[in-house]
Amino acid sequence: MKTIKPDITYHLFDYEELSEEDQRLIDAAKKATYQSYAPYSHFMVGAAAKLANGEIVCGSNQENAAYPSGTCAERTSLFYANSTYPDVVVETIAIAARNKHGVFTPHPTAPCGACRQVMLETQWRNKKPLRTLLYGEEGVIVVDKVEDLLPLCFNASSM
Ligand code: THU
Repeated sequence: MKTIKPDITYHLFDYEELSEEDQRLIDAAKKATYQSYAPYSHFMVGAAAKLANGEIVCGSNQENAAYPSGTCAERTSLFYANSTYPDVVVETIAIAARNKHGVFTPHPTAPCGACRQVMLETQWRNKKPLRTLLYGEEGVIVVDKVEDLLPLCFNASSM
């Protein structure tokens, strides 16, 4: 028997310590929360994807009375980016959320498993690490590549 401890890395920043570019992307994700449709969870999530061509593509969670039909902010923005600009690398994605009181969460909101899987495939498609910025009012988590969010991942080579 062998025990493997995955070696994952992430960084903790104060918002003010981030580059202007990263701050701008977080601001876009925060703004996107106001376009969320979340009448069931009352948890409003926004995502902003920065593309290599300079575009920022935003998305928000879109819920549905048939719950599984809804989708998360991250997948909304990435599928939009990948379908609109299929050949353009997605460099960074920022995520922010407001809670049922309408205020931004103190701690970063981490993407769900399904979104991590889509983020991973976006990165593989692009052949370039996809950075993730997770916004919280009390600090920002920066992850340099998706494998750090999804160790022991499923990928096409498993098939
Ligand atoms: N949600 C996201 O949009 N992204 C996340 O990273 C976590 C969860 C959405 C899904 C659902 O609309 C609501 O937040 C509550 O789970």
